Amino acid sequence: MTNPIKYNKKVMEHFSNPHNMGELENPDGVGEVGNPVCGDMMKISIKVEDGIITDIKFLTFGCVAAIATSSVTTTLVKGKTLDEAEKITRKAVADALEGLPPIKMHCSNLASDALYKAIVDYKKKHGIPLSEEEIGREKKIDEEDIHE
Ligand code: FES
Repeated sequence: MTNPIKYNKKVMEHFSNPHNMGELENPDGVGEVGNPVCGDMMKISIKVEDGIITDIKFLTFGCVAAIATSSVTTTLVKGKTLDEAEKITRKAVADALEGLPPIKMHCSNLASDALYKAIVDYKKKHGIPLSEEEIGREKKIDEEDIHE
């Protein structure tokens, strides 16, 4: 049986050989989200030193695009400051994979949202105040999330 959805080479590379898969021991921040469109789930854990994300891992129960977007997100994030990582959007994730089939664009939401929640979790645990914008974005992600 052939898969009717055609993924590009970069997506298939990340799917076949995902980077940074698993869970960090004693993470500094953890973000979990569910995709309201399909029910797939993703967990991202981060280590932070001096405001820089030094390590990141993901666990994803999802489709080819979900695994590939998780993997590429971890490669985008390592070594970035929290502020830089926070700005990684759903589109940036899809662009880093050189595009996703239109029907799979919603899959890129999981990675950027889980990353964002991990950063917010870190900030809350370390008493770093959230801006109005950050609170709003977190609320929006939680409202869209079906598994909470
Ligand atoms: Fe669920 Fe792709 S179909 S994340």
